[in-house]
Amino acid sequence: MQNKMSIQGSWASRWIFILAATGSAVGLGNIWKFPYITGENGGGAFVLVYLVCILFVGIPIMMTEVFIGRRARRNPIGALESLSEESNTSTAWKGIGLIGMLAGVFIFSFYSVVAGWVLQYIQTMATGGLNGATSEQAGAYFNGLLADPQTLLIWHSIFTVMVIVVVAAGVNKGLERATRIMMPALFVLLLVLLGYAMSTDGFAAGWNFMFEFDFSKLSWDAVLVALGHSFFTLSLGMGTIMAYGAYMPKKASVGGTVLAIGALDTIVALIAGLAIFPIIFSNGMDPAAGPGLMFISLPVAFGQMAFGQFFGLLFFILIGIAAWTSAISLMEPTVAFLVEKFGMKRLNATVLLGIVCWAMGITCVGSFNFMSDYTLFGKNAFDFLDFITANIMMPLGGILIALFAGWAVKEQFAKEEIGVSDIAFSAWKISIRFVAPVAVTIVFVYNLL
Ligand code: PFF
Ligand code: NA
Repeated sequence: MQNKMSIQGSWASRWIFILAATGSAVGLGNIWKFPYITGENGGGAFVLVYLVCILFVGIPIMMTEVFIGRRARRNPIGALESLSEESNTSTAWKGIGLIGMLAGVFIFSFYSVVAGWVLQYIQTMATGGLNGATSEQAGAYFNGLLADPQTLLIWHSIFTVMVIVVVAAGVNKGLERATRIMMPALFVLLLVLLGYAMSTDGFAAGWNFMFEFDFSKLSWDAVLVALGHSFFTLSLGMGTIMAYGAYMPKKASVGGTVLAIGALDTIVALIAGLAIFPIIFSNGMDPAAGPGLMFISLPVAFGQMAFGQFFGLLFFILIGIAAWTSAISLMEPTVAFLVEKFGMKRLNATVLLGIVCWAMGITCVGSFNFMSDYTLFGKNAFDFLDFITANIMMPLGGILIALFAGWAVKEQFAKEEIGVSDIAFSAWKISIRFVAPVAVTIVFVYNLL
């Protein structure tokens, strides 16, 4: 059964798999969310905890998801089921896939709204709407956008359609093509922005903010955010990477491939932070400004830069593309499931899921205006969906996947698939059996208390 191909197709090479998985990982999580949660949680110590979570929890779990998907060559629910059977253990493990599908819809609903902000900013940059704006003007512009449900809804709808079109086209024609050129271009533009940030007088302050470890600023709350973000940024705990793993060529080594993806994602997040915080400090803005951080600071920076309008336009286009490739990957597990389980046509499955996600997203459009009074646990729909997915559902899903692979799956299967040295394999096993589950449990328990 291991040599069978997924009916959805297969990535042309290991390199394409890296690009696709990186396309999933690198997105709004890196450029929008990472800087603003770093700002809200006090900087350096938060960054350090985040890096530790990536290395000791995220990377091992990513390896696990890839190997499960690749061995079973099926959608996440089917993969968990078939590996349970192969290992003579309960098939109840496939329930993890259900949590994942729900998380996918929840994430899509706010992700698409933020992607909609990016699309609006592409238009704004193209028409020079924020040329020479002060930080007050840029802030007012952003708040004005949030207060306008009609505009938000239009962009949210456009973005959802963009995602549906690519997902419906399938693995090779859709997903692959979208990723090839865009990732390298995004990287280059980030470096340009970093170069500008280094030339401002806020660079030292920005650097210190990110890398000075002041542990007195760290709370258990912040640790939960750091842990949750390590899952969110690597697209873990909800079946996405498992689904992509099902299309991975047999020959490639899971260990080395996953390390490359994790490193790329981390580098992009750190560069985004190093590009944004100096701009914040050199313009006297507040690093804890929240979700608007990128949307307020970057237009100000581009407004002061030579050829700023051009670079600004290019930058928001690239962020839009990064968000696009990530949102595409959010849909893949459920679409593959609907196709494989119920024999639906890929197009129909994609449209059905797209409509559900779009409708759910309307609550996030309304969170900033006509529905801002509707709250759950003191959070509007946007914040609530962000919170429960990143901080609860994804870590929980990830831990269950780890426990499944560490304790229920035949060890020999993991060994065959991951394909690393004995020492590295032992490290993976310790992490998956003990470190990751214990770490997540401790953080959960402390936050409940
Ligand atoms: N990893 C993406 C980001 O950092 O923007 C977000 C994401 C994509 C999460 C796909 C989960 C997922 F399945
Ligand atoms: Na990411």
